[in-house]
Amino acid sequence: MASGITTYLSKWVHWIKFKGWFIFDLPYFSKERKYTTGLELGAKAGRSMYYTLKANKSLHLTGIDLWEIIPGGAYKRNNRNEDKCKRLLQKFSSRITLIKGDAFTIADTIENKSFDFIFYDLQCKTMSNFHKDMIAKWLPKIKTGGVLIGRDFREFRQTFYELGFEEKDIEVCTIGKRLSERLEYIVLDK
Ligand SMILES: C[S@@+](CC[C@H](N)C(=O)[O-])C[C@H]1O[C@@H](n2cnc3c(N)ncnc32)[C@H](O)[C@@H]1O
Repeated sequence: MASGITTYLSKWVHWIKFKGWFIFDLPYFSKERKYTTGLELGAKAGRSMYYTLKANKSLHLTGIDLWEIIPGGAYKRNNRNEDKCKRLLQKFSSRITLIKGDAFTIADTIENKSFDFIFYDLQCKTMSNFHKDMIAKWLPKIKTGGVLIGRDFREFRQTFYELGFEEKDIEVCTIGKRLSERLEYIVLDK
């Protein structure tokens, strides 16, 4: 009986940690690494930006999103997310830049080596065959020694291999001594 409860609790804790990457992992990973300039590709309603800005008070965070209705149940009201995002992040207004549009085109307007980290969160139907080109376009925007972080990198392995990365280049994010259940990162060393 006791071991049944322990198993149940540990599964529950695992689930919370897996789903709660935007509260428990990304914010504290960025804080511990003392990152001061970041970009989130796929800001949506500002959920992960909010917790990251809250935890890391030295951070200026840029958020990019289409904020258009796109295929998929989670995006039926995506056109409303720009306002939601602005409202949610209002109290961090001096530390945010929000840009609406296609991230692929916007990349042309951003200087190379601008960010300590890019959090890549563009996973959706319309992007399914496009991650390789998008990632290739944004990698130069990361400072030398900076990182590309993602929660879906398990699904992007082939993309990363095609971009010249090897398995050893993809590391699990740590928060203190804890390993993230979900977030992985790649250090840009050039
Ligand atoms: C998985 S959601 C982001 C979730 C968000 N980071 C959060 O924590 O709640 C993916 C977002 O990527 C955006 N997106 C998809 N393709 C895009 C593109 N080409 N340019 C800019 N944003 C895009 C969608 O509008 C959507 O809001």
